[in-house]
Amino acid sequence: MIVLGIETSCDECSAAVVKDGREIMSNVIATQIELHKPYQGVVPELASRLHTEWIEQVVAAAIMQAGIKKEDLDAVAVTNRPGLLGSLLVGVNFGKYFAETLGIPYIGIDHIRAHLYASQIETPLEYPYLGVLVSGGHTVICRVNGYDEVDVLGTTIDDAIGEAFDKVAKFYDLGFPGGVVIDRLSKTGDPNAFLFPGPSLDRKEHPYDMSYSGLKTAVINQKDQFRNGDCPDTPENIAASFQRQAVGILMKRVKLALKDTGLKRVSAGGGVAANSLLRSELKSLEKSGYTVTFPSLKLCTDNGAMIAGLAYKYLLDGKYDTDSLTASARVSAFKKN
Ligand code: KG4
Ligand code: ZN
Repeated sequence: MIVLGIETSCDECSAAVVKDGREIMSNVIATQIELHKPYQGVVPELASRLHTEWIEQVVAAAIMQAGIKKEDLDAVAVTNRPGLLGSLLVGVNFGKYFAETLGIPYIGIDHIRAHLYASQIETPLEYPYLGVLVSGGHTVICRVNGYDEVDVLGTTIDDAIGEAFDKVAKFYDLGFPGGVVIDRLSKTGDPNAFLFPGPSLDRKEHPYDMSYSGLKTAVINQKDQFRNGDCPDTPENIAASFQRQAVGILMKRVKLALKDTGLKRVSAGGGVAANSLLRSELKSLEKSGYTVTFPSLKLCTDNGAMIAGLAYKYLLDGKYDTDSLTASARVSAFKKN
């Protein structure tokens, strides 16, 4: 089964062709990063306008690079939730129209579930496993029981981890997107130059919940209070010290959740899963007998392949959408009850 996957939930305009859920025949990602750079953040109206201008060519390129004709497609999958509403609508409307003109089924895919599924395309992992979803919009620790069955154990109670990376980078004018720049600067910085604090959440009520707004405030407004001796106040040292604590907050909860659930497998996904420190910290869990997977870098950030890959599972189970398919900016399933 050959599926076209379309992803336009934020600032990447992406389309991919995936065969039988595993073979990525093409994965075109037209990033808008340069065009949002002057604003140091994604401007929603600009994003949707660019998706409208680009989508047709991006889909055509994905089909061409896959070496197929559009008539060879068996289904179309499109991210329809959550994300920027205007951007999602461009993908959903295009995907529906494209599938309808070809007379093939289409399906709306949840962006968060797709990030959690992405590693499965390259490295299948047996269910259940501990899912660690870390992106610009979400920070979720969950028990993944199946491709469509996720129990949320903990979430951020304020900023998402990627949002904290982006806001710190924006404040210090380090560059955009913040996560990538901070990761790069950290490599030559001292992670102990600033001893930034972690959140003190009630352990009984919030054992796996996280908070990033306190860390962000400390880095932005109270940096000097946390300076370690006379360590130099450089962008590299700020970046490395922030990154150490941002990843530390997450890893502490991941380890606790693994211990409490008894799960032996872990998989991460989302843009922040591209972070080099997080990848090495997760990988080091293997020394304690855990199996750890994460997507290759291209499948961490937003991409059409993860949408087509997850859609294959739904399509195998006979789950399609109808004309009533629409876009939703938010989903409630990824909030803890
Ligand atoms: O998954 P994604 O492409 O979009 C959302 O669904 O949010 O994630 C984007 C986020 C941004 O906050 C970006 O700064 C962060 O992922 N990111 C990183 C790295 N690469 C991207 N954060 C830390 N380290 C990285 N290497
Ligand atoms: Zn994403």
